[in-house]
Amino acid sequence: MYWILVTGATGYIGSHTCILLLKSGYNIVILDNFSNSSPKVIDNIIKVSNLNSKEISRRIKVFEIDICNHNSLDNMFSSMIKSRKKINAVIHFAGLKSVADSVEQPYKYWETNVLGGINLIQTMESYNCKTFVFSSSATVYGPTSKIPIKESDLIKPCSPYGSTKASFENFLADISGCTETLKCSIPSNKEWRIARLRYFNPVGAHSSGNLGELPKGKPNNLFPLIAEVCSGEREILEIFGNDWPTKDGTGVRDYIHVMDLAEAHLLTLSKLFISDPQILTLNLGTGIGTSVLELIKTFELETGRKVPYKISERRRGDLSISIADPINALKYLNWKAKFGIKEMCRDGWRWKQSQAQNNI
Ligand code: NAD
Ligand code: UFG
Repeated sequence: MYWILVTGATGYIGSHTCILLLKSGYNIVILDNFSNSSPKVIDNIIKVSNLNSKEISRRIKVFEIDICNHNSLDNMFSSMIKSRKKINAVIHFAGLKSVADSVEQPYKYWETNVLGGINLIQTMESYNCKTFVFSSSATVYGPTSKIPIKESDLIKPCSPYGSTKASFENFLADISGCTETLKCSIPSNKEWRIARLRYFNPVGAHSSGNLGELPKGKPNNLFPLIAEVCSGEREILEIFGNDWPTKDGTGVRDYIHVMDLAEAHLLTLSKLFISDPQILTLNLGTGIGTSVLELIKTFELETGRKVPYKISERRRGDLSISIADPINALKYLNWKAKFGIKEMCRDGWRWKQSQAQNNI
């Protein structure tokens, strides 16, 4: 069976994708430097996947590696080859993802998200592994008045984080020999099979309660903050503005269940394996917008608890509304999000409770 290298595999989206890869029969190479995750997540992946010890040693390899270290990447590919395991494809989640931190530390963001990615691509090329799935972001679009957002819309990131994602997307187009930019699928004359997946707002957790987001430090995003307020860890939620031009004045986003997102990665991989060399660019969202107040309300209904909040100033750099047009994911992958915000809140809360019970 195929070996899939998953960079950032112990992070939030990577760990959920590992579950589906294992379930679908793929073998996985877990690569992470644990800068925003913990090796303990590997135990959770194994637990949720229900593998026995024989399967674990046969189907999972783990490497603690920083993608900025070219030699380590090369050694990892070479050790896999020596043990007669060829890596057939890479799903590249490893990266830094805080908009605010990227403003403070642009060098670090460019080094990890762009140089690290280039190291990885160069290493893959030298081992003739040319199937690559990249975690991009809706943030590459920047502010837009066109809703829903299509893949062909203007790319205009407005943070160093967004610039690193847009630049690496451009690099991927260049190495695959693609000149056009507006189509979702462009043939590659360099034998690369690449997908650039632009996630909207991933939230929620695995329904078992054994896997979820485990960020280090204070979360910046709305969903984990609501969960913290709901659990009593945080006193009150600040809503950043109620004077946006939206249905109730609060910011609107396209929240997507992390397991829906993970499934889209599986389908992308299958699609790339059976297709001609190409670069595929897809939005991954539900196409449905939810306001901050609507998300709070749903969380309260699903948990039976109150989420106290106060209205604060708008956050610098925020958008009023961001919703995907996911039609191309349906067309190219036959993928459509299955879960709504009720399930996202239910599963996110189950994970939050199990963290408290198990002292995670
Ligand atoms: P995460 O921080 O939970 O996971 C990223 C993983 O990469 C972590 O385990 C971290 O330890 C690892 N990592 C970071 N730098 C590394 C390095 N130099 N070498 C090796 N490993 C390294 O983030 P996530 O939410 O799972 O996001 C995964 C990818 O998706 C990221 O590239 C992110 O930019 C992108 N993305 C995330 C979101 C989101 O809201 N979560 C939205 C759009 C795009
Ligand atoms: N919000 C609050 N209070 C908070 C946090 C957020 O009111 O304490 C509001 C924001 O103003 C926004 C909405 O909740 O209206 C969602 O904010 P998030 O920070 O959860 O998400 P963003 O859409 O701002 O950004 C996220 C990631 C980016 C990524 C983008 C698109 O943080 O890295 O989604 O994928 F680029």
